[in-house]
Amino acid sequence: MFSIISILPTVVLTWASIASLASGVPFENLAPRSPEPYSDFNNNVVFKPAADYTSWKTIYPRSLQLSDGTLLLSWEDYPPEPPLAHFPIWKSVDGGATWSDFVNVTDQANGWGLRYQPLLYLLPQDFGGYGAGTILLAGMSLPADLSEAWLDLYASTDSGSSWEFVSHVVYAPGPETVTNGNQAVWEPFLLMYDNQLIVYYSDQRDPAHAQKLSHVVTSDLKTWSDSIDDVADETYGTRPGMATVAHIETTGRYIMTYEYCVSGSGCGAHYKVADSPLEFGSAENTIILADNISPGGSPYVIWTEDPSGTGSGIIIMNGASREEVFVNSDAADVDAWEMVNVGQWAAYSRCLEIIDDNGASKLMLSNAGNMVADADNYVVVGVVDVPSLA
Ligand SMILES: *[C@@H]1O[C@H](CO)[C@@H](O)[C@H](O)[C@H]1NC(C)=O
Repeated sequence: MFSIISILPTVVLTWASIASLASGVPFENLAPRSPEPYSDFNNNVVFKPAADYTSWKTIYPRSLQLSDGTLLLSWEDYPPEPPLAHFPIWKSVDGGATWSDFVNVTDQANGWGLRYQPLLYLLPQDFGGYGAGTILLAGMSLPADLSEAWLDLYASTDSGSSWEFVSHVVYAPGPETVTNGNQAVWEPFLLMYDNQLIVYYSDQRDPAHAQKLSHVVTSDLKTWSDSIDDVADETYGTRPGMATVAHIETTGRYIMTYEYCVSGSGCGAHYKVADSPLEFGSAENTIILADNISPGGSPYVIWTEDPSGTGSGIIIMNGASREEVFVNSDAADVDAWEMVNVGQWAAYSRCLEIIDDNGASKLMLSNAGNMVADADNYVVVGVVDVPSLA
């Protein structure tokens, strides 16, 4: 999580101006569309908040495809309270063309609400008493006064219909705000590795760093290791944040992307590559630029096979300042990032996922708006061809 003051210089486009840039027509003139099932589309509306929504209204989407093709989508949601804040999950069974309100995941542990940064993850193996295919949900639970927080873990063994609390992962003494010195924790990301579940997160609790990136691991989903640093800058005010990790399957290596917010000069995107997803701490901290253009902060990274048959896989990432995705080959060479236009509006922490679209491999992009003043955010998805390397 960056401080809003430090990001403002780099995110200057309003939602509406981004839309009109993308389409060449004023935002208001975009006709509602309902795409065909399993077709390609951009900026397809999932959910529009009511007028009484507060704060960002919607932001920070996270998608997950289940083994039967069902798509789930969650996000931070800001309706007036009560009821206590929760994570909505909407569902599509037609490749993202139409969506329905599926379930609300509510706080079962703290009586505070589930407010920030939901993350959906499909367990790839039996683990911690849960079977392969169990859905895990991690997110930040905190009271409305932001006084303290838990990074909590939930599970669903019935494809998302019902949820149960699994465990507390990391405690934040608070306050849960981006002010340097406040002991906040943000933005969980999950990855199974070597019979352990890794939870990466942004960490403001270390007095030596305004914010750093850390991880903890578990072997049973109940007890958690001490935290290990993944990215921690020597300069106190620098705020690495928002880690996501992808497995480069062809080389066996792992890539972490994260935002790198420097006091007074905004947020760019950086990355590290390591042989083990437990060993990013010692890997080189490298900036992402394509022809000197930055994707901006709140990045997200995935890996998939390259459809153009180059022999390499393809690393795909994006950030909040650009509509394009940034792609690289498996070597993740610092000079080899390329920008590819995918026709989808930019967003804060735009989520990427390769989906099975009725047999075709497609890139789904999920977008719940930007972190700008007077946000008029809502939730849209795009489904497009997987970009290929030039
Ligand atoms: C989720 O909660 C909202 C109120 O915030 C409510 O309108 C909606 O019907 C709930 N959805 C489900 C599936 O229960």
